[in-house]
Amino acid sequence: MGQDLEKFESFRRDRFPLNIMDERIREQWENNAEAFSSLIDGEGTPHHRKILNPCVEKLLGDVKDKKLLDAGCGEGYLARYYAKKGADVTAIDLSQRLIGASEQLTDNEDITVDYRVDNVCYIESVPNAEFDIILSNLVLLNIPCLDDAIKEFHRVLKVGGVLVFSIVHPAFNFYGPGSWQMGERNPKTKRREGIYFKVDRYFEEKEYERYWKTKQGDRFPEPISFFHRTFSTYLNTLISTGFKLLVLEEPQPIDDDSFFERERRIPFFAVFKAQKI
Ligand SMILES: C[S@@+](CC[C@H](N)C(=O)[O-])C[C@H]1O[C@@H](n2cnc3c(N)ncnc32)[C@H](O)[C@@H]1O
Repeated sequence: MGQDLEKFESFRRDRFPLNIMDERIREQWENNAEAFSSLIDGEGTPHHRKILNPCVEKLLGDVKDKKLLDAGCGEGYLARYYAKKGADVTAIDLSQRLIGASEQLTDNEDITVDYRVDNVCYIESVPNAEFDIILSNLVLLNIPCLDDAIKEFHRVLKVGGVLVFSIVHPAFNFYGPGSWQMGERNPKTKRREGIYFKVDRYFEEKEYERYWKTKQGDRFPEPISFFHRTFSTYLNTLISTGFKLLVLEEPQPIDDDSFFERERRIPFFAVFKAQKI
């Protein structure tokens, strides 16, 4: 057994298999898989396309010939996008159905992505120091085990490798302790104007459940779990695990579309780029 593999095996012996919490979250995503895939629809929502994804792409830099792990890939549109940019992509997700959908969508394209059902909090299928880049887009706010996931990302990255992850901005987290006080609906954008954003109990780190809606406005079959954490928790978890923070961005809409009136006033997402040292 090579030295790396030995270290990997001893690491694995210290860990536990999928626990009850992960099982409950896996079921949520399995039951929501179809609705989620159709919401993403191979390209992401307007918020993804016009605010988040350009920032993530800038922070990832040139991915050509890099070994990239998409950790919590969903229906895999970002895995496919970066495979087309020349990265050697492995993509994992807890949901068998979402991995199945990703494989089907990739079959129609002239690219290869190595998809695996796996858990970001305990990545069974990946030995140590495999990847140059990890992308984890809007996943860490959906898991109970932030410490474990960050440790796993550190383990599977090469020294000098980078982790880019995004979350809904924790200070203005409408999946947690915050919400917009809404005014009238703007007939042009069909969105309600924001009066102000209310935040309370920011320091209470806890789980919230929220239903998402499809493009047609129907409720997803199941609520989704979100885990609110403070900004300092994310930063200190990175630092204490052995990452150096390179960049922290609060991306703004890339154009002056009046649809994003609220998102120009306070940040919707936060994106971190950190390096394994
Ligand atoms: C909000 S979606 C984001 C999906 C994708 N990254 C994107 O940007 O479209 C969160 C994803 O995390 C996955 N997920 C949740 N917990 C996970 C875990 N412990 N391990 C791996 N994936 C997980 C869900 O199945 C879901 O696909």
